[in-house]
Amino acid sequence: MKKVMLIFGTRPEAIKMCPLVLELEQRPEFETVTCVTGQHRQMLDQILECFHVEPKYDLCIMREKQTLFDVTISILDRLREILENEKPDVVLVHGDTSTAFVTALACFYMQIPVGHVEAGLRTYNLYSPFPEEFNRQAVDLIAKFYFAPTQLSRQNLLKEGKPDERIFVTGNTVIDALDTTVRTDYMQPEIEWAHGSRLILLTAHRRENLGEPMRGMFTAIRRIVDETPDVKVVYPMHLNPAVRAVAHECFDGQDRIRMIEPLDVLDFHNLMARAYLILTDSGGIQEEAPALGKPVLVMRDTTERPEGVSAGTLRLVGTDEQPIYEAVQELLTDEVSYMEMSRAVNPYGDGHASQYIADILAREL
Ligand code: UD1
Ligand code: UDP
Repeated sequence: MKKVMLIFGTRPEAIKMCPLVLELEQRPEFETVTCVTGQHRQMLDQILECFHVEPKYDLCIMREKQTLFDVTISILDRLREILENEKPDVVLVHGDTSTAFVTALACFYMQIPVGHVEAGLRTYNLYSPFPEEFNRQAVDLIAKFYFAPTQLSRQNLLKEGKPDERIFVTGNTVIDALDTTVRTDYMQPEIEWAHGSRLILLTAHRRENLGEPMRGMFTAIRRIVDETPDVKVVYPMHLNPAVRAVAHECFDGQDRIRMIEPLDVLDFHNLMARAYLILTDSGGIQEEAPALGKPVLVMRDTTERPEGVSAGTLRLVGTDEQPIYEAVQELLTDEVSYMEMSRAVNPYGDGHASQYIADILAREL
């Protein structure tokens, strides 16, 4: 029996790795071991609870206002003994977080094969997103198996000289998750509160946007809400205190902007499905919204998800106040523009990515 270890640590990794944990656990040919770094705490636990996943190991590394140094050092230090004891046949990591990069590095030091789920996404700008672009390129330098979500991500890997026979286009496991969460009759307090208004769903957290860029984004949104009486904004705030400080500075005193705690994934996906439009700097939301046919204004200068831009659902608007304000205004006032961005398309697979990955591992290990 082959031992497959899955190591992840933040909310988006958990959303995309839990479907794979559940798939691998049902297969008798694998011994499946789950380890979380706890790079996130509450936001990770919310997702583990939702999917009923109980990790064997929890490195509990999160600290308030942690730096990249804190995260890197703690994971590297605590993972060593676990890997020495478990001796997995393969370790699966996800995406581009520090957890993914440092885990891959630890595996490299110990010569343990790494499988990279969501491999091959690129902006080719190491500072945008920061440090994620570095992280994912570094993981792909180390990985043995590449689970690319799309043909485009496969092409990126091929251009970099990764061997074709180790690249597998599987779709993105986020679609596996989405298929189980969205329900037409779903109700929760924010959906009720926004009834009868146009709901803008907002998220923002990127490290390179902290400070002035985030102030620009939030000021644009505040102007829109002040000027448009039938618009309401729901903002499940990231737990990073640096994000929350700017949010309160810009949004306090406007009761049509509701700042709430992070939502569990069921609530969040169903809120997305009811939103009029989405404003975000998130990566995962750029994959989910096209499938739901929700226009997304991406408040970043680059994206590693060009599939959604080509499909017409995503538009990059940067982080400056005026262009964001104008882009939102256009979608609120120009029905043709809005309809053009609202067509449901899903470039990210058929919702069976976890099964494909498990099949490939059964064959390749
Ligand atoms: C991390 C990832 C980023 C990913 C994001 C998803 C890195 C370098 N960054 O960024 O790629 O898009 O997660 O959300 O890997 N906090 C809590 N509780 C939580 C989570 C965070 O209190 O459950 C607070 C803590 O003060 C923590 C801070 O947020 O120090 C920042 O967390 P961190 O994981 O370092 O960075 P993120 O911006 O969340
Ligand atoms: N999400 C969630 N609750 C929230 C906000 C987001 O469950 O309150 C989900 C969202 O559906 C997506 C993921 O979290 O799957 C995105 O996480 P985040 O934006 O933190 O990270 P990124 O994708 O940018 O790495």
